Amino acid sequence: MSNFADSIRNVQNYVRLPLLYEHWYVAGLCEEFGRTPKERRLLERSLVFYRTLDGRLVAAQNRCLHRSFPLSESTLEGDELVCGYHGIRYDPEGTIVRIPSQKRCPDRKLRTYPVVEQGPFVFIWMGDESADDSKLPAFPFLADPDMKTLYGEHRVEASYLLMQENLNDLTHFSYLHHNSAGFDDSFLALPTTVTETPEGVSCYRVERDPKRAGARLPPDVQARIGDRPVEQWDGGLALSPGVFKGDAPIKVGDPDSDDVEVFNRYIMHYLTPETRTTSHYWWSYTDDFTPSVEGLDEAMTEAFGKVFAEDAWAVDHMQKLLDNDHFDYQELVIGGDKAGLLFRRVVLGWVESEYGDGNTQR
Ligand code: FES
Ligand SMILES: [Fe+2]
Repeated sequence: MSNFADSIRNVQNYVRLPLLYEHWYVAGLCEEFGRTPKERRLLERSLVFYRTLDGRLVAAQNRCLHRSFPLSESTLEGDELVCGYHGIRYDPEGTIVRIPSQKRCPDRKLRTYPVVEQGPFVFIWMGDESADDSKLPAFPFLADPDMKTLYGEHRVEASYLLMQENLNDLTHFSYLHHNSAGFDDSFLALPTTVTETPEGVSCYRVERDPKRAGARLPPDVQARIGDRPVEQWDGGLALSPGVFKGDAPIKVGDPDSDDVEVFNRYIMHYLTPETRTTSHYWWSYTDDFTPSVEGLDEAMTEAFGKVFAEDAWAVDHMQKLLDNDHFDYQELVIGGDKAGLLFRRVVLGWVESEYGDGNTQR
């Protein structure tokens, strides 16, 4: 048993596990980064983001190699970052191209990080191993012009692991989101399927009652479903430390044949630790059936934002107690925690593969 194995038995220790670097995370929204250098703190590191003249996004260590001045407080000249303290210039690869006070440029490089833009999001690789493209989650629907994608963000004053446990848990919907999303106890009566696959841990509930399924859908979608047999899926798949893919289709059968009409919905959550106890949280909602009606996107974005702010609010409070209440006890485990507990084991595997030698310094 590794030194970390005990940590997953107790939430106080679980949220203090070292951060995982050998994965892709969301760094922000593409629209946030432009020609003005901007700081973002990710995984206990300060990074600077900017775009080159041809629009390429650069992510680099924010601390100037010379005296730790923040490059986010510096200027961009052409494609070169010019430190605001003594004028050292860096090209987009992080190479020092000029030191104004001397002729020689030492062979040192500012660390840069691979980034990939996908739909509205920037994904970043901060691992020491070279970027593993096979681990980059591919979400083509985010950029599909035939689908609607809405998105938003919240700050979370809590460990990203508490948010992941919240996403792996479908039993809080009927209480935390009862007023905002209309879930009630009937949702808890639905059978839950929890599966561990090589892709990750998945947890789903399927509503087959046409009335109850329809109650949370726009009226025109309810009308299209009519009296046909329906399966409305809720839940999703924890793919990586920072990505939860809510794959929540509505499948509508035809009573006279095997045909199934699928209304696709993807409710995605992207969590990126800022520190072990504070996190960035972005979400996106994509579907291929909501009509374009003036004002609807804004109303839906607000409604989703309200629901996800409740999750952030809940875990913020939990983190506060974990930090400040020193009455140490073992949390009660109930059936609905199954997916979250399975995910703890997956997290443990990732921690052991990064820190198996016990050295937690990065
Ligand atoms: S601190 Fe940046 S050039 Fe000196
Ligand atoms: Fe929730």
